[in-house]
Amino acid sequence: MPLPDGFLDELTARNDIVDVVSDYVQLTKRSGSNMFGLCPFHSEKTPSFSVSQDRQSYHCFGCGKGGGVISFIMEIENLGFMDAVQFLARRAGMEVPEYDTPRELKNRRARMLELNRDAARFFYETLKTPKGADAVEYIKRRGISPEMAKRFGLGCAPNEWSALTDAMTKKGYTQYELVDAGLCKRGKAGGVYDAFRNRLMFPVIDVRGSVIGFSGRILDDGEPKYLNSPDTPVFSKSHNLFALNLAKKSKMGMLILVEGNIDVVSLHQAGFDCAVASLGTSLTNEQARLMSRYTDKVVIAYDNDGAGQKAAQRAIGIFENTGLQCRVLRMSGAKDPDEYIKKMGAEAFSLLLERSENHIEYRLLAVKSKYDLLTDDGRIAYLREATDVLASLSNSAERDVYSEKVADAASVSKDAVLNEVKRALARRIKEQRKREEKKNLRPEQIIQPEDKSKRYENPKSGRAEEVAVRALVRDPELIKTVSLTAESFTSPYWAKVFTLIKRRSDDNESVTESSIANLLEDDADLFTKNMREPMDVSSAAQSLADSIKKMETAQIKVNDDSALLDYWNNKRKNL
Ligand code: UTP
Ligand code: MN
Repeated sequence: MPLPDGFLDELTARNDIVDVVSDYVQLTKRSGSNMFGLCPFHSEKTPSFSVSQDRQSYHCFGCGKGGGVISFIMEIENLGFMDAVQFLARRAGMEVPEYDTPRELKNRRARMLELNRDAARFFYETLKTPKGADAVEYIKRRGISPEMAKRFGLGCAPNEWSALTDAMTKKGYTQYELVDAGLCKRGKAGGVYDAFRNRLMFPVIDVRGSVIGFSGRILDDGEPKYLNSPDTPVFSKSHNLFALNLAKKSKMGMLILVEGNIDVVSLHQAGFDCAVASLGTSLTNEQARLMSRYTDKVVIAYDNDGAGQKAAQRAIGIFENTGLQCRVLRMSGAKDPDEYIKKMGAEAFSLLLERSENHIEYRLLAVKSKYDLLTDDGRIAYLREATDVLASLSNSAERDVYSEKVADAASVSKDAVLNEVKRALARRIKEQRKREEKKNLRPEQIIQPEDKSKRYENPKSGRAEEVAVRALVRDPELIKTVSLTAESFTSPYWAKVFTLIKRRSDDNESVTESSIANLLEDDADLFTKNMREPMDVSSAAQSLADSIKKMETAQIKVNDDSALLDYWNNKRKNL
């Protein structure tokens, strides 16, 4: 355990979850022992965010987020586990014991950040040497000014196998540390070699100014075009954005989200200093939430191709959930913002920015471009699809305003459109009901966790595993009466939760919903959701016994089926 026994228990006891959450969320409605408020993690108009004082946990019935008080602070303050602990300790006037983080781990993060900074410096200095000539030439060719190259700390990874390795080894970093930070790879013969070679290097700097990773653009036409640092203890691609360290200081009152690093540099150079890019991944909820800490307005300026448009549609949904106002910028005559600015200039881009469409207009335009509105068939098809979009709007004023626009485009009356919208709404409701019914007919389907990565391969067992875990947390003494091991669980998630319960129980530490939720850090959603299901302490023993039996039968049955399948396959082959 990173922290001495009992410290986290005391920390959570002194930071009542209702108090802590109340600093961020107005908790009003009370229902049973639960308080409700508007969820801070997605936008909503009716409260579905519940906080339970008894259980010291929270759960949102809307977006599914949940956890204990530490998870809450991690999520809302965007902090790592230990930073959240520090935060709460300060809040409660407690001292985090010195030997909190194991020395190795503390050193590991601090050393990695130092190494990254030294590596960034090395790449930067290399630009001034003959080995950096290709990169300097490349920077010039891409039209990046020396001032911008400096502002972004651009650098050069020379076309060699050990330039960085040698320089960093000289500074006292070990091969292990270089590999750990993702800067080197291990060779077959046992040594290490530079991961980034012959690349223009973009350091990724977080909002606190630490160099957390790198993105490298190949200088010729080798593959891959961009190479990014892997996720490390200091770098998570899904939780960071390129150039947010600069864009957060912008006075433009918005953030512009683009696809490429070069787009970001070009935009900053043209005066749009609020541009950021996600790091070679599609936009995540965490990135959107991070952006919402600095602005409430986002303009998406993705590439002008099919993939970019599709990604924009997806990003719109994510921003909507985060409660960010979002508009989409459409370019023509250039494939991305970098090319657009080079061809048409900053002023033209500025106009595009002004004219960027809000997400509804954008979606309606996307529909419109699919049909020929000069023909009757085209107008009817357009109307049908456009009214579907209108029906998906939750705000009736919006529905009204945009119905008028659709009516104009299709040359029909507004009433006709509103009628169609009504029909489309009815259709949606019916479809939803049908889906619900279908789900109810196949019970093991509904209960799959929403998070796809956690879907059960063996749903019957997975369901029973949920019940087993619930019983063990309700009555932790039960763990001593059964012979469960992590291997008894088919779901990796419940195996992990079980392992935490078992470890605390073996160490004679209290097993409570909040202690386990906090240990799950930012992965507590499914756990707290499960704990909201009813189960009395008095029936926990029976539920546990039942669920273990179910797990066993579910697992045997799957094995049998596959044995049977093998048998038939063999037989077929031999015929
Ligand atoms: P693009 O290929 O659109 O980049 O990828 P770009 O900015 O137009 O590239 P240039 O102009 O040829 O230099 C957009 C982003 O997708 C990620 C990178 O973050 C890149 O900036 N990407 C792309 C990768 O991570 N790996 C790749 O191989 C390619
Ligand atoms: Mn591009």
